[in-house]
Amino acid sequence: MKENIIPEEIQKYVDAITSEIKHYSNILDDKQIKSIYFGWGTPQLIWLENIQKITDTIVQHFDAKDLEEFSIEMNPYPQDEVLNIVKNLSKKYKDFARVRFSFGIQSFDNKVLSQSDRDITYPWLVEFLRTLQKIKQDHNIFNLDFIAFGQFNESKKWNLQLRNPSSIDFFSKLSESKFIDSYSVYTLELFPWSLRYYQKKDTNCPPFSKEGTHKVGEDLNPSSFAEQLPLQKGDIICWSDDDVYEEFAILKDILLEKWFKRYELSNFSLLWKSSIHNRVYREMWDYIWIWTSASSFIQKPNEELRKYLQLKWASRAVRRNNTTKLAEYEKWNRLDTVSIQDLSDKDIQIEEFFLSLRTDKWIQDISKYTNILVSDYKQKIQSYADQWFISVLEDKIKLTDQWMDIYNDIITELLQEI
Ligand SMILES: C[S@@+](CC[C@H](N)C(=O)[O-])C[C@H]1O[C@@H](n2cnc3c(N)ncnc32)[C@H](O)[C@@H]1O
Repeated sequence: MKENIIPEEIQKYVDAITSEIKHYSNILDDKQIKSIYFGWGTPQLIWLENIQKITDTIVQHFDAKDLEEFSIEMNPYPQDEVLNIVKNLSKKYKDFARVRFSFGIQSFDNKVLSQSDRDITYPWLVEFLRTLQKIKQDHNIFNLDFIAFGQFNESKKWNLQLRNPSSIDFFSKLSESKFIDSYSVYTLELFPWSLRYYQKKDTNCPPFSKEGTHKVGEDLNPSSFAEQLPLQKGDIICWSDDDVYEEFAILKDILLEKWFKRYELSNFSLLWKSSIHNRVYREMWDYIWIWTSASSFIQKPNEELRKYLQLKWASRAVRRNNTTKLAEYEKWNRLDTVSIQDLSDKDIQIEEFFLSLRTDKWIQDISKYTNILVSDYKQKIQSYADQWFISVLEDKIKLTDQWMDIYNDIITELLQEI
């Protein structure tokens, strides 16, 4: 891994990041920070010492005495490097209330792992987790990411079953062990560059595999599947969203059964182990992301910040992104001025409503949202409550763990057309 990285490039990256951190510490009045998060999957590529350098710059220039969570998201490989980072960061930041690691496991299905170009296997992951268990410290929080890919096959009795039943047993035992504090379970989202994005578009699939076909050899290069599926020219392969939601439901039910609480649409945790970082967005705390195309949200920006954001008047709240252009960013032209959104009270109210409904937090005082809700919202809420979709307590509502899945439908039905 290290050999592919150009030290000068890493140095330029770390210098650019630390200078943006210092820039913000010079223009913000309130320098108290609650959480630090290294995200986008491969921080280990910049090496332990640079992760520490960036963290120390934050601690030096901001008030981190009440920091609630230091969190870093990583792929679980290369194992030695990853475990070394876990051990050293946990030791270095032993005074932080929480040092949290989120590992991108994604799946225990070998075909899915190789199809997602992950150079690891299910047995390898089992060994990795067993080793990880031995180095866990008291102030560590471990989170695992999974994606429901919906890969089923038919059992001897023609029942649909996830392709690798033993992995489900292992997932169940792992969640029972409580060594992992939380799980993020996502439903696969398809992007135009992903193969499945095109497959899903077709509709005439043989009954077993429901929707979606592609003919190998026509617009599908057989070699790209050779490892996973023995495909011949003209073969048909299919996938479907239902399978994705089915797998999501299996993983969700196991976690709820093992006393994990669903604190957000895709996130489940043991009591008191939910991620501060994951709550920051949904509970609309101010946050600043650093680096190219990074987004930030700040309420009541002070004069210095308004000047930096070229805002001529006092603002209720502002959301904005950094430029995507590295060259501009390195010249300190960090702002993507087109992206600046000056949010009104109503904008904030709408975001507050639909963001908090996707968490385990009660929406307080529902009547204060009357101006953004449909006129018969009370009747609708009552009917949801009758179906156990929503819990209602006086003027407070929240979705039940089981029914957060239909969040989008409920939001669409309750909010007035914007
Ligand atoms: C959202 S962040 C993870 C944050 C982490 N769960 C945490 O609590 O700190 C990145 C994760 O997004 C998920 N992801 C990436 N691409 C995806 C896709 N196409 N569809 C669904 N989930 C995806 C993967 O599980 C990846 O590890």
